[in-house]
Amino acid sequence: VIRGGDVAVVVPAAGLGTRLGTGTPKAMRELDGTWLLGHAVRRLGQAQSVGCIVVAAPSSLVDDVRRRLRTEVAAEIALVVVSGGRTRQESVRHGLGAVPVDYQIVLVHDAARALAPPDLVERVAAVVRAGRPAVIPVLPVVDTIKQVDETGQVVATVDRIALRAVQTPQGFQRQILEDAHRDETVATDDAGLVERLGIDVVCVAGDAAAFKITTQLDLALAQVLLRSLHAPPGA
Ligand code: CTP
Ligand code: MG
Repeated sequence: VIRGGDVAVVVPAAGLGTRLGTGTPKAMRELDGTWLLGHAVRRLGQAQSVGCIVVAAPSSLVDDVRRRLRTEVAAEIALVVVSGGRTRQESVRHGLGAVPVDYQIVLVHDAARALAPPDLVERVAAVVRAGRPAVIPVLPVVDTIKQVDETGQVVATVDRIALRAVQTPQGFQRQILEDAHRDETVATDDAGLVERLGIDVVCVAGDAAAFKITTQLDLALAQVLLRSLHAPPGA
């Protein structure tokens, strides 16, 4: 039975956060008085279309995460927490396996993109709902990108106009995402797996706030953004 919306979101959150440093898994890291995964899931839950959220958490923390997340989203939203895998792709596959059968639209969203706004979720979901098999949010590339060889010698300057930086949430017709994950080949994102099936992937405008918290600099940026949200006017 679909409660709330017609969209299920799979949230890979089982990474170690090695580049962020310290022993705590990234999803559990403190961020602006609460925790990183809490921010991510709360924003997903604020999107009207979302009826179900499936989190792939570090295996030792599944019960803890399930208990702590329940207060982050409205009671109508189905919340499922499963154990993640050794790679992001494996974690997504575990999560996908736990999406209730009722949902035909599935989004995949990195917990590390904790500040992705609800309207980005809606923008991606709307295009899948309109019939597209696979949808990704993208931003223009701001840096000049060069192709180099193993010695560090520049081979070519790639035309930036044709390049896009890809974010999450990525949205899919459920059947297509399942087909894409059936195969054992590796890709750095879910759309990459879908492309290998020869299926069209379409872009929508991304959002700078959906940046991935990877390093200490990213964490500092997230803190600043969150503080500016609850600063009194004129402060
Ligand atoms: N992820 C996951 N399972 C893994 C590895 C990663 O669910 N085995 C998730 C992370 O929790 C994160 C997303 O995939 O939400 C993107 O991964 P990344 O930003 O690389 O996070 P980590 O792998 O945790 O960080 P690092 O690579 O620095 O260790
Ligand atoms: Mg990683």
